[in-house]
Amino acid sequence: MTKPLKIAIAGLGTVGGGIVKMVQKHGALLEKRAGKAIEITAVSARSRGKDRGVDLSGYAWEDNPVALSQRDDVDLVIEVMGGEDGPAKACVETALQNGKHVVTANKAMLALHGQSMAEMAENSGVALRYEAAVAGGIPIVKALTEGLAGNGITRVMGVMNGTCNYILTEMERTGAAYADVLKDAQALGYAEADPSVDVGGIDAAHKLSLLSSVAFGTKVDFASVQIEGIERVSLADIKNARDMGFSIKLLGVSRMNADGLEQRMQPCLVPANSPLGQLDGVSNMVVVDGDFIGQTVYQGPGAGEGPTASAILGDVMDIARGLVIPVFGQPAAGLSNSEASRAGSDAAYYLRFSLQDQAGVLATLATILGNFGVSINRMHQYSHGGQSAPLVIVTHATSRTALDQALAEISALPASLAAPIALRIETL
Ligand code: NAP
Ligand code: HSE
Repeated sequence: MTKPLKIAIAGLGTVGGGIVKMVQKHGALLEKRAGKAIEITAVSARSRGKDRGVDLSGYAWEDNPVALSQRDDVDLVIEVMGGEDGPAKACVETALQNGKHVVTANKAMLALHGQSMAEMAENSGVALRYEAAVAGGIPIVKALTEGLAGNGITRVMGVMNGTCNYILTEMERTGAAYADVLKDAQALGYAEADPSVDVGGIDAAHKLSLLSSVAFGTKVDFASVQIEGIERVSLADIKNARDMGFSIKLLGVSRMNADGLEQRMQPCLVPANSPLGQLDGVSNMVVVDGDFIGQTVYQGPGAGEGPTASAILGDVMDIARGLVIPVFGQPAAGLSNSEASRAGSDAAYYLRFSLQDQAGVLATLATILGNFGVSINRMHQYSHGGQSAPLVIVTHATSRTALDQALAEISALPASLAAPIALRIETL
């Protein structure tokens, strides 16, 4: 009889709970498909007494998650506690050093320690898999490392944070305030333990840095991702964008330029009628351009219990079937150090200014933009009752450097009441 694959789960929250439910519900199906049983032998979380809505009575309990990685009856450790260092890192490293496979959903940890962990896994001859860490339930890591492995990848782009897409689309759909929609996203289990990591663009940037490594054969370089969050995007911006035929998305782009790897994660305007523009709720979408295949598009739920458990079990099944591939699609020792590209491509921008309603202010602003070579395409001053005049400008294609210099000068004007908003317009 084929021996079962014995797994331990560190973390029993949204994701860990979903994994237990899936294994309990689909045990027979998983066994048929993998050719061996998938058995949970031990689990760990902070509070042993917490009611988690699942029956844990058949599993050994460890107070210390690192102890899971030292047990003889564990072949594979699933790390779903979170945190870039601390117990998560200790648990994963101990498992890899002890020759146990690891599956994790922890993008924050891999964005910082992915290279050393990949080397550890490859030296021990075990798998380190992380499908759930990127774009929730979408099998994008598998697509890049396996299905598209014959292609030179020219660009990876997409919406990679479910919480932000949920917030932006719910604000537009219901007119609800940002803070209220964020609370809903937390209640639905989409957000990180510290949701500022989501809305600040950091979580999506972690994910982008992992995909960049697979796509371009470079060491994970999270520190070089240019990051802007959605915190300053207002309902007014969402409505203004819609009036002009755009939706606002937290969009990531990674591509190899002549001067190095360009990685940016920032709120952008995209055509409202494009697939990205129509992406609703917690959904994610990743667009991959390959030299032989052309463009491929992957869409699905980007967060939540079921989709994340699904991605974890996909990895577990591969390991059960004996598939062990290099963590970032090629042996970690051969991944290159990339220069961070500062070139970036020119683009049109949506600008929103909050200015005192005084004679001559508009002329001054237009002059400053002109002095930096920023040309105005469209302009709209929305009706207002008070001292502040909300002014929206859409520029022609311009460099971000020139635009930032102009915006710094405009911000310093006595008539400027708040820092301007600048959102890149992606034509896709
Ligand atoms: P969560 O609901 O907050 O659950 C975290 C679990 O880890 C809890 O069971 C907690 O124990 C346990 N834990 C935390 N610190 C621990 C420690 N020091 N020792 C032992 N156990 C500890 O988080 P989650 O949403 O499931 O997310 C877990 C991981 O998956 C994170 O890396 C996250 O980024 C990633 N992820 C989440 C999603 C999602 O949609 N939620 C999607 C993709 C990836 P207690 O329950 O006892 O407090
Ligand atoms: N907080 C993350 C998100 C979870 O909202 O996308 C999935 O990685």
